[in-house]
Amino acid sequence: MRISVVGCGYLGAVHAAAMASIGHDVVGIDVDPEKIARLGRGEPPFHEPGFDALLREQVESGRLRFTTDFAEARAADVHFLAVGTPQARDGRAADVSYVNAAVASLAPVLRPGAVVAGKSTVPVGTAARLAPAVEAAGATLVWNPEFLREGFAVQDTLEPDRLVYGINHAVDGRAPEESPEARILDEVYAPIVGRGTPRIVTDWATAELVKVSANAFLATKISFINAMAEIAEATGADVTTLADAIGMDARIGRRFLNAGVGFGGGCLPKDIRAFGARAEELGLGASVAFLKEIDAINMRRRDRVVDLVLYALGPRRHEGRVTVLGLAFKPDSDDVRDSPALDVAVRLKGLGVHVVATDPEAIENARARHPQLEYVADTQEALAGADVVVLVTEWREFRELDPAATLALASDGASTESDVPRPPVVIDGRNVLDPVAWRAAGWDYRGMGRP
Ligand code: UGA
Repeated sequence: MRISVVGCGYLGAVHAAAMASIGHDVVGIDVDPEKIARLGRGEPPFHEPGFDALLREQVESGRLRFTTDFAEARAADVHFLAVGTPQARDGRAADVSYVNAAVASLAPVLRPGAVVAGKSTVPVGTAARLAPAVEAAGATLVWNPEFLREGFAVQDTLEPDRLVYGINHAVDGRAPEESPEARILDEVYAPIVGRGTPRIVTDWATAELVKVSANAFLATKISFINAMAEIAEATGADVTTLADAIGMDARIGRRFLNAGVGFGGGCLPKDIRAFGARAEELGLGASVAFLKEIDAINMRRRDRVVDLVLYALGPRRHEGRVTVLGLAFKPDSDDVRDSPALDVAVRLKGLGVHVVATDPEAIENARARHPQLEYVADTQEALAGADVVVLVTEWREFRELDPAATLALASDGASTESDVPRPPVVIDGRNVLDPVAWRAAGWDYRGMGRP
């Protein structure tokens, strides 16, 4: 099939390459000429495991190309909308201006019979609002949300656990499964559908809500366990053991129950805020008012890490050297949008603490937003002379640090006349280090919600 993908960020670029790998003829469109030029050369503009090879292969095959010109979408049978819906500058709602602009730019090039498939996460009611512009061209609009996780984007796109098609089946009373749009999407996703991947065909509003409610549920799960961490901190309990124990109940499940510095990224934080704002617009604010609490619990975990660092430094907070391990919002990504790790580093710096930050992939993105921070690319160099080490993104490299070797690094060049207490303190903001091993090596270990 001939496919266009509008918006070539973390979602769209991976989707475009994945669709080409299925065998479709794909054009990726974006308004950013620099990004398009890089993608066209087969160079990924962001870090995503497995994406480099996929992109290069598909560009070389001739099935995948990139452009800034919407006219090149004219031949496509299916157009995917994959532009961002970030939090609006002036509030909690989603900024849907990129989605609106994408539809306005596509409308003049739509062929009758074409399908526009929205993938962006949007406030419920968006598809109904956009449909007239698409239908005026004789095309139809479906909402086909995406559930990929950064760090697993390629795998999640090619092997999703479900497909959701939101179709306006009120048109002529047909069962939505039998609509031509569902058949077209089945053809797009033929190998995925053929593998027996569950496929849910529903209406626009349900499809839009499936996406935001999935992210709201995941955020709730994380904040639930972080709330238990707060209780554990006051009572001497261990939240990781608690999570293991409650997670053994299959109804609860252990995944997404890792307490720590909390969730960040371009999705969960803004999606729960946008959901709250949309519900209020609908006069249903009370239904998801709890999401404000989820957000507040999440933000308090960042305060907690900052407090632990200040406590460790004691009264001479300006003398100690604090190494922040991690800047990305999660490992295997260079994305620093709403990153708890970057936020902790920036807040500490703002409090006059000497912060040295490192990350295997996210330094450039972090520097672009916060040039005032001191960045060191090499982990060993970043750890040299550290009085306090704060692990806030659980990259494998950090999880596997040897406590004895790290202690030797931290002791190397540490200012002896500093009043900062030794042994050095390690704050495990993701509960991924072994407290016994780190304490045995001579560290003062502090976890999140652990005694
Ligand atoms: C999230 C969803 O998981 C995807 O299903 C969804 O498609 C995507 O948003 C989206 O809307 O596009 P992502 O933002 O890539 O994916 O990251 P997650 O793996 O969900 O992690 C989000 C944050 O939660 C990270 O900061 C992570 O460190 C944190 N987290 C996750 C925890 O603090 N504890 C956990 O137990 C799990």
